[in-house]
Amino acid sequence: MVIATHGIDLTLTTPALAGEIDRLETEFTVPTEKLNTVIEYFIEELNRGNEDGTDPTGIPMNVTWVMDYPDGSETGEYLAIDLGGTNLRVVMVSLLGNNKFTTKQSKFHIPVSMRTTKNRDDLFDFIASCLQDFLEEQNPNGIPKDAMFPLGFTFSYPATQSRINSGVLQRWTKGFDIPNVEGEDVVPLLMEHVHKRGLPIEVVALINDTSGTLVASRYTDPLTEMGCIFGTGVNGAYYDRVANIPKILGKLEDDVPSTSPMLINCEYGSFDNRHKVLPRTSYDIQIDNESPRPGQQAFEKMTSGYYLGELVRLVLLELYGKGLLFKDYKPASEQAQNLKTPYFLDTSFLSIIEADETENLSETLNLFSSKLFLDTTLEERKFTKKLCQFIGTRAARLSICGISAVCKKMNYKKCHVAADGSVFMKYPYFPERAAQGLSDVFGWEGLAEKDHPIRIVQSEDGSGVGAAVIAALSHKRQAKGLSLGLKL
Ligand code: GLC
Repeated sequence: MVIATHGIDLTLTTPALAGEIDRLETEFTVPTEKLNTVIEYFIEELNRGNEDGTDPTGIPMNVTWVMDYPDGSETGEYLAIDLGGTNLRVVMVSLLGNNKFTTKQSKFHIPVSMRTTKNRDDLFDFIASCLQDFLEEQNPNGIPKDAMFPLGFTFSYPATQSRINSGVLQRWTKGFDIPNVEGEDVVPLLMEHVHKRGLPIEVVALINDTSGTLVASRYTDPLTEMGCIFGTGVNGAYYDRVANIPKILGKLEDDVPSTSPMLINCEYGSFDNRHKVLPRTSYDIQIDNESPRPGQQAFEKMTSGYYLGELVRLVLLELYGKGLLFKDYKPASEQAQNLKTPYFLDTSFLSIIEADETENLSETLNLFSSKLFLDTTLEERKFTKKLCQFIGTRAARLSICGISAVCKKMNYKKCHVAADGSVFMKYPYFPERAAQGLSDVFGWEGLAEKDHPIRIVQSEDGSGVGAAVIAALSHKRQAKGLSLGLKL
C-alpha cells in the first residue's frame, strides 16, 4: 500500500503490536485487482437500479427529473437550503448568467439530539426557524409584503421523486433516525411549518447534494460529468439517457424523448448491501450490526466520514481488551469512558493524527489526552497513526469505485468529477489517495496527477448554487410548458 509517512519512522518495536499492525494492514488493504472486481459488480448494480431500483438490497438510482444541462446562462434569485448530516445551510443565490453567481449564507448547527428526535415536527420546525432567521436577517426592514421566495431544497437522503418538487424519503442514512418520515413526502412536512411561520416560500425543486454538486460545477465547468460527496455520507450523481432507464419508460409525458438526459442520484452508499464483493472486516460487520439500520448503506459504512472514527475506536478498544494498548488506562472517571462510548471519535480524530508530522507525534499525544484522557507511549501513537493511514487509505481507494463504475458504464474517457464533503475537503491526503486509486484502476502509471484524464476536482459550492441552478432550470421548463415529472 502506498502511504506517505513524511519522514517519521513508524516502525513498531513491540513484537505483539507489530504483529497486530501487520494483520490490520492486510485486513484494510484493498489491492487494485480487488478494486477492479468491486467496480465490475458496481456497474451491474448501477444497471439493475436503472431497471428497477425498488430492491432494498440494491442501489436505488433515483430519478431526479433534472432533464437539462445548465450552460451557465441561467439567471435569477433563489433561496436554497441544504440539510446535511451535521449542518443546515441557508443560502440566497444570485445567478448572474455568464457562469457567474454570488451567494449570501448562514450555517446552523443541527443539534446531535435532533438526528434521533422522536417527533418529526422538531426537525421540520427547526428548518423553518432557520429559514425565518435568515430571511429576517436579510430583510432588516421586514420581508416585503408581495415577496415569494422560490426555494431549492437540498435534502441529502434517498428520496423517490415522481416530480421535481416532491420526494418521499426511502430511508434515513448517516445516523438520522426520526420516526414517521420514511415513506412520507418531505416537502409538505416542511411547508406545514413554513406556513405556520407565515413565510412566503415555495419549493421549486427538491434535490440531493450530489445533484447539486454536479449541476453547480457544470454551471461553471462544462467538463463536469459527475458530482460526488465524500463527507458524512458517500454518494454520486451523473446524467444518463432516458432510454437507459427502463423503469421510467412508458411513464413519461410525450415531451420527454428517449434521448433526453436525466440526472440520476445513484445513492450508491447502499452498494453491495448483499455483501457480495466488499472486503468487510470484523469491525465493519460490528458497525453494521450495531447500527440503527443493519444491512443498509454497506458501502457508506466502509468509506464515509460518519464511520471512520468508529472504525478506529473499535480497533483501539479491541487491542486495549487484549492488553496490548493503554495498559495504565483506568476507565474509572466519567471522562475516561470516552474510549468506550460508541461514535465518540469523529473523522477529525483521524485527520489530526494523519496530519501530525512532529517527531514524537506530540499533536497525537495532546489529542489522546484531551479527548480520551489517555496518556500514550510513542509506540501507541505510532500504532494509531498507522491504523488511521490504513483506514483513511481504504476509504479513499474504495470510494473511487463508484466514480470508476459510472465512468466505465457511460464510457467517459476524459472528464471532471466535482467533489464536495468534509472528508474530501479536510482529510489529509484523501484527494491524493483517491487520484492514486483511479490511476491504478485505469492504468495511468507515470502520468502526473494534473494530467490524469479523469480528475476529481473540488466542486463549486454545490449545495446552494446547485439547488438554485436546478430551480432555475425547472422554471425554464415550466415557462416552456415542459413536464417536470411522471406522466400525470
Ligand atoms: C447519504 C445519503 C445521500 C447523500 C450522501 C452524501 O448517502 O443517503 O443522499 O447524497 O449521504 O451526503
